[in-house]
Amino acid sequence: MDVSIRNVRKEFDRFPALRDVSLDIRSGELIALLGPSGSGKTTLLRLIAGLERPTEGAVFFGDEDASHKSVQERNVGFVFQHYALFRYMTVADNIGFGLKVRPGATRPPSAEIRRRASELLDLVQLSGLEKRYPNQLSGGQRQRVALARALAIEPKVLLLDEPFGALDAQVRRELRRWLREIHDTTGHTTVFVTHDQEEALELADRVVVMSQGRIEQVGTADEVYDTPNSPFVYGFIGESSSLPVRVEGGQLWLQDRTLGLTAEDVPDGDATLYFRPHDVELITDGCGGCIAGTVAASRRVAGTRRVELEIGGDRHRVEIELPIEHPAAQKNRVAFRPRRWRVFSESGAVGGPVASNGRVHHEELARTGT
Ligand SMILES: Nc1ncnc2c1ncn2[C@@H]1O[C@H](COP(=O)(O)OP(=O)(O)O)[C@@H](O)[C@H]1O
Ligand SMILES: [Mg+2]
Repeated sequence: MDVSIRNVRKEFDRFPALRDVSLDIRSGELIALLGPSGSGKTTLLRLIAGLERPTEGAVFFGDEDASHKSVQERNVGFVFQHYALFRYMTVADNIGFGLKVRPGATRPPSAEIRRRASELLDLVQLSGLEKRYPNQLSGGQRQRVALARALAIEPKVLLLDEPFGALDAQVRRELRRWLREIHDTTGHTTVFVTHDQEEALELADRVVVMSQGRIEQVGTADEVYDTPNSPFVYGFIGESSSLPVRVEGGQLWLQDRTLGLTAEDVPDGDATLYFRPHDVELITDGCGGCIAGTVAASRRVAGTRRVELEIGGDRHRVEIELPIEHPAAQKNRVAFRPRRWRVFSESGAVGGPVASNGRVHHEELARTGT
């Protein structure tokens, strides 16, 4: 089922939790809504579900305006972080619940409900646990049952709000992989809310990055990681270093030094350069145009060394990443140039060697020498 969110605004007591949000979710897609706490993820999910009505705008299911349809009419399945199972019901009864409460004509016979429950338990890899009660299950097992319960009604859309949020890291990672497999088996249209970037990038076909009630960027994991379209996305996804710069005639300057980076479409004026600490090229033989700094600190991070450089006296600090034994980390002064980078001007213009569609402009790379 395609779901289309069209210019939706949602206010709570005039506080805008969502501001003009539009998003097209394709049938069979697994979409992650990713953003910090309070960015509007749950509100957007509840609007898709029919638990909230938009203040403005509409939610379409296929060609149909579903904005005023009930949760039941929309036939969506849910899993929430703390959507507790019914404590006094067995696992099988929990899973069958959504079918059992259907009105007469649409309710399957009880033998059929039992059969479906046991089929779904196979799918979520909990066969044999039909007769257990929720308090006899681990947290991870409970969320699997919750997912089976959501799937039992054969939902048009499956909605998951931080379903693994309360579980420990190891279990989360396992369930994440497992959810992807289930999704590929069942082919449901799935919307998954998380504030964990690793979870979103690993799991989703497309990631929707949200901040303050707006969508900042929509793209594949590669697109949002490699070509963030705003300082917010640069900072929120992955690690980033930034440096205030000046654009003059399409050249980037830091104080009186040119950086050897070209951004022709960006107007003259103040801007901020962003790059990934691991995506830099060290420059050893003289630096006509580059970023040079003094090593202020250095620490080991897993298999690499993080070096903190002071640039322009002690005015700015940036981090770059070097192989663990790299001799440059021992030096006092290190010069480098970011390989992939973007510059955001105060007027909102964006420049850099990576085009917004995710492809690299080769002429531009050649010109900047990156
Ligand atoms: N029922 C509500 N009444 C008032 N404010 C709400 C309500 N639900 C959400 N909000 C506010 O809307 C904003 C977005 O909330 P939410 O969608 O829950 O964000 P997220 O899920 O990204 O953490 C927050 O500022 C929150 O306080
Ligand atoms: Mg939430």
